[in-house]
Amino acid sequence: MTAVGIDAIEIWTGKLQLDLPNTFAPAKDQDPGYYTEGLGLETSSFPDTYEDIVTMGANAAKRLMDRKGLVPDDVGRIDVATESAFDNSKPVSTYIAGCLEKVYEGDFHHANKGERKFACVAGTQSIDDAYNWIRAGRNRGRSALVVATDTALYARGDPGEATQGAGAVAMLVSEEPSLVELSTEQGYGSADETDFLKPNQQFPSVDGKRSMQVYLARMREAVEDFESVAWDMHPEDFAYIPFHTPFPGMVRKAGLLGYRHTIRDTEIEDELADEIGRQPREAEYDDREAYEEAIRGYMDELKDTDAYRDWYRRVIEPTLNLSRRVGNWYTGSVHVARASALAHAAENDRDVTGEKLLVGSYGSGAQAEIHAETVQEGWREEIEALSIDDQLERRYDVSYDEYETVHDAHNHEMDRELEEFTTPEGEFVHVGWGRMSERK
Ligand code: HMG
Repeated sequence: MTAVGIDAIEIWTGKLQLDLPNTFAPAKDQDPGYYTEGLGLETSSFPDTYEDIVTMGANAAKRLMDRKGLVPDDVGRIDVATESAFDNSKPVSTYIAGCLEKVYEGDFHHANKGERKFACVAGTQSIDDAYNWIRAGRNRGRSALVVATDTALYARGDPGEATQGAGAVAMLVSEEPSLVELSTEQGYGSADETDFLKPNQQFPSVDGKRSMQVYLARMREAVEDFESVAWDMHPEDFAYIPFHTPFPGMVRKAGLLGYRHTIRDTEIEDELADEIGRQPREAEYDDREAYEEAIRGYMDELKDTDAYRDWYRRVIEPTLNLSRRVGNWYTGSVHVARASALAHAAENDRDVTGEKLLVGSYGSGAQAEIHAETVQEGWREEIEALSIDDQLERRYDVSYDEYETVHDAHNHEMDRELEEFTTPEGEFVHVGWGRMSERK
């Protein structure tokens, strides 16, 4: 069977940065350690006042098309995943295609366009749509462009404000991919929840504590479902496990859950038995509550073992390097985590060709999806072509007052003339809803 997967990615960060320990913490009268140690964040990316989900998505897509030498005829499908959309009729992909048509010969009139909405998991769902389209043989040799783009902003004073971010990830899904092949197997955990909602509002209503419980419950269900169709996983099966990363502290909890689950009935559980005992089995308990209490006790001890710390340092920690610097990008977040892990491998001269990743996507609302990926031969070239470190270095560092101005601007008030903090450099900029243009 021909391999189908992600051929290339490009990342576009919002061009402003908010320094959490040094700018945000003093303004909020909070200990900087809450951000850096507790949540695991250093800075977050913000869009300048001329950036939005269309410009960031189009800029990431243009970079990807230029680097891969693509023209519109090579693309048979454009799917945008976002939960920051402003148009309830036309999909954001039509706006992005409109931008790209200004700079390439030809057009995307032949391409199927859509917009996927299911909180943060929509980015992965769009990749699935592209994968299924290719597998069904409907692509006529063409590739699919998937763009995950969001301005993940919360109301001021909301606990989520600390986890904000903005940026876009463009991905090319094709046959014989250079970066990763996707597994046919997938696992799901899905339920109707009300922990995170955006009913006709730009900033979400969130029950933060509940959202963390729901994340872990759905992720556990998805892991179990994946195992039921794939294989009984072992912690060493994967080079890296990129999870959806609303903030690195959340992934600390997800990583522990994954490790506990995958060491069951393995030599690792046996080796740890003298130190912390074997993990509780549900059949040993009269009721579910007592079992869950016992599991929590086991996990408390497990997280302090050398075996777990070493695994976490190797398999999870590298997925968080970018997230610490950019915050939550909603639909793009898990794709940033994958890029972060592969960049870590490249920097450390580790050849991960043929190794597996386990990818844990999540969308509040709520659904988790698990699939595996096999790293392809061209991964290093693709990852080394990314300019994300340079982009992050060049962000303008906003003061708290400037942050407030930008934050107000992105609460659907983008039509007024606003101060710009950076200068656009041959990129798409916002000039009013539905009217995008390129300027130098
Ligand atoms: P909170 O309730 O203010 O934080 O906000 P907390 O009190 O739970 O503290 C967080 C951690 O910091 C804790 O560590 C504290 O001990 C520690 P943990 O127990 O987790 O190990 N801490 C400190 N550490 C060092 N020095 C200190 C200090 N103080 C405390 N001085 C909350 C956390 C998640 C509720 C908030 O950020 C929030 O509401 N965020 C938005 C929702 C969210 O991100 N939820 C995550 C799961 S849902 C999801 O991922 C979906 C999403 O991406 C949207 C979508 O899918 O569309 C959001």
